[in-house]
Amino acid sequence: MYPEKQDLHLRSVGVCTYSETQIEKMTENNNTKDPVTGLTEEEVIAVEDSWSMLYRREHRKENGVKLFMNLYSLHPATIEKFPLFKGKTLEEISKHPKLPAHAMSVMYALASYIDNLHDTDLLVELVKKTAVSHIGRGVGSEYFKLLSDVVPAWMKEVLEEECTPLMLSSWGKLLGIVVAVVSGEEQNMTS
Ligand code: HEM
Repeated sequence: MYPEKQDLHLRSVGVCTYSETQIEKMTENNNTKDPVTGLTEEEVIAVEDSWSMLYRREHRKENGVKLFMNLYSLHPATIEKFPLFKGKTLEEISKHPKLPAHAMSVMYALASYIDNLHDTDLLVELVKKTAVSHIGRGVGSEYFKLLSDVVPAWMKEVLEEECTPLMLSSWGKLLGIVVAVVSGEEQNMTS
């Protein structure tokens, strides 16, 4: 009898057991949106959990390559922005010796974003740096939007059944912020 009664009031989360009051408090906090990113704690956790799989050391390079191969095949116009790949076929790009280096640079940059989901001023500054270096190459917010549009297909391809709707929607929100920051920098640079 006693253990059953106790079960009504205590719940296990990971290795810890919490009271209902503590759970309620955590749920409340989980629903509070960050004022800068608009992400709730639950969404931050969904991004972090999915990232720990996307950024798995042994598959990091291959996953970065998959992201850009998805972008090039769904939006071939983006290829023209890459001096090394301009005019090449998908087959040629996929075998290009410099593709993994570029893919890894992007994965490292994304890792710095994910590391700072709780330090949103820093996160925005990091995205602004990416924005400035890309706008200078003619890669503006519309191209970042194209990349954000291929991210769900990439996540499904890599994570398979571990990919959840919450992960997809949380990444959608995060990348929406990236696009908005790039767009803001574009306006600053042209005004
Ligand atoms: C969140 C999205 C992205 C991140 C984090 C990112 C990150 C990076 C990084 C770290 C580099 C190398 C360092 C630098 O020059 O800044 C780079 C280079 C580059 N990126 Fe991105 N990038 C993103 C999206 C895009 C998109 C959407 C395009 C074009 C469609 C693009 C085109 C390029 C090009 C053309 C280069 C130079 C490649 C070269 O040197 O040959 N990037 N990117």
